[in-house]
Amino acid sequence: MKAIQYKAFGNSDVIEFAEIPQPEIKNENEVLIQVKAASVNPLDIKFRNGMMQKMRPINLPYVPGADVAGIVIATGNKVTNFKAGDEVIAVTREGGYAEYALALESNTAIKPENTSFEESTSLVVNIGTAQALLFNEGKLAERQKILIQGAAGATGTAMVQMAKNTGAYVIGTASGPGIALIKSLGADEAIDYRSGDVSVLINNVDLVVDCAGGESQHKLFKVLKPGGKLFSIVSPPSAELAEKYQVEARFISSNISAGSLTGGLALVREGKLRPIVAKTFLLEQAAQAQDYVSAGGVNGKVVLVISQ
Ligand SMILES: NC(=O)c1ccc[n+]([C@@H]2O[C@H](COP(=O)([O-])OP(=O)(O)OC[C@H]3O[C@@H](n4cnc5c(N)ncnc54)[C@H](OP(=O)(O)O)[C@@H]3O)[C@@H](O)[C@H]2O)c1
Repeated sequence: MKAIQYKAFGNSDVIEFAEIPQPEIKNENEVLIQVKAASVNPLDIKFRNGMMQKMRPINLPYVPGADVAGIVIATGNKVTNFKAGDEVIAVTREGGYAEYALALESNTAIKPENTSFEESTSLVVNIGTAQALLFNEGKLAERQKILIQGAAGATGTAMVQMAKNTGAYVIGTASGPGIALIKSLGADEAIDYRSGDVSVLINNVDLVVDCAGGESQHKLFKVLKPGGKLFSIVSPPSAELAEKYQVEARFISSNISAGSLTGGLALVREGKLRPIVAKTFLLEQAAQAQDYVSAGGVNGKVVLVISQ
């Protein structure tokens, strides 16, 4: 089968378009999927440049691709919820940039009928992460105030919509066309992080979700009410600042499974959550697609189209 792989860590030059053996079901709980589309997640780039080797080491050669949308081709003996022909989305963790990929049944869900393969793969990490941060950890409730830093990015666009559907008051930071995008998704306030300082403009926030990381994170503490929560999906927040402002602050890894997609997928089926695909590339353009994500300024998810 055709796939993307790399045999060394580095910039996107290490990416090869290759012919490799099709994966075979070895675990009775797995499904084999003919991949129609796969997301390009920022994590794929962190794996490729070797940045993740201390935290989550991978073996080379490596086929990237944490999530896919496609059609079930075969199922392991213990799989009960899926059969050949089902249109699904799945968390593959790796191996998604390929014509065929394996996923555990527990990481697979039926694709919403009202979305394309490209749109549905774009949802997987976004809604799984939003579920973990907003609800499982953040316990976000109606009328609470939430600030989403990096709200026009891939995960941010899902968070804005899921928070809004809960009845929360949603404030997002973004730049350029991202401002209009998050407003169109329901944000009550959109702050241009290049010209506005959130720590001056807003206060009394119950939950801050940081999708950007870096230095900009420090200012987010000041907007919280005492006892509020700051969760980052990018970098661990300062324990000193958490103590100073009397808030809970943690890095969260979303650990997505099919169960964590249920709430978001229901909203998609009801037409209450719109997938945002920023741009599509062909499988053989994976290096270009990763460079496009690395360059920043992308609103929504970049997706690889693998077969029509
Ligand atoms: N821990 C987890 O479980 C988990 C899950 C999913 C993703 N992640 C990580 O979370 C990060 C975001 O993922 P993503 O897919 O949403 O990436 P993305 O689409 O690149 O979104 C990041 C957003 O952050 C914005 N941003 C950058 N600098 C900013 C600043 N100083 N202030 C405010 N906003 C700023 C960007 O806006 P502009 O483009 O306008 O600059 C962009 O919209 C990545 O590092 C990813 O690896 C972690």
